[in-house]
Amino acid sequence: MKFFIDTANLNQIREINDLGILDGVTTNPSLMAKEGIKGKEAVFQHYRTICETVNGDVSAEVVSTDFDGIIREAQELAKIHPRIVVKVPMIKDGVKAIHWLTEHGIPTNCTLVFSAAQAILAAKAGARYVSPFIGRIDDINWDGLELIEQIAHIYTVQGFETQILAASIRSSLHIVKCAEAGADVCTCPYDTLIGLFKHPLTDIGLAKFLEDAKKWQ
Ligand code: E4P
Repeated sequence: MKFFIDTANLNQIREINDLGILDGVTTNPSLMAKEGIKGKEAVFQHYRTICETVNGDVSAEVVSTDFDGIIREAQELAKIHPRIVVKVPMIKDGVKAIHWLTEHGIPTNCTLVFSAAQAILAAKAGARYVSPFIGRIDDINWDGLELIEQIAHIYTVQGFETQILAASIRSSLHIVKCAEAGADVCTCPYDTLIGLFKHPLTDIGLAKFLEDAKKWQ
């Protein structure tokens, strides 16, 4: 399973990239807004910097909701860098645009997916990635991880090539369960990735080893 970081924060991206465990980046309009970037030129420059920092796919989201607008935005975003993947919402014009963009060689990430039915549509349209939002499903007391299992099963049975990009990740458990369920990618906030390192027995064991090492150093 690949690790993407779900942020537009350059310090977080650089830190995780330096660990050698990063395969890509996802952003969305909310994450871009959080960084205080304003204006199209600044936004495009920010995407360019992310692409030059990480050797992997970088999702950049359109904000148009009509077919023509999505295509126009997607073509502009795709020109920023060859590793840009255009993030398109799961709506009728979005699916139509994903099909058009796929036919024209522009890779897409179908976002805001909350059901297996929507995941089938994304795959049929030819999306490179489908992004089921598991944390937001849990938030409404449904089971986000069950959705990942269901999509993984359907894609295997049907031979769909779209990669499952588990999104809206909230915990280490989400990440481990996504790996078990066969997600191709997990996009995680910085804190969740750092959380993977943590185990109290590691801390206790290391403190003991360092203390004992003083006896023979
Ligand atoms: C990533 O592609 C999604 O936009 C993101 O994971 C959504 O996460 P959230 O539900 O924590 O906002």
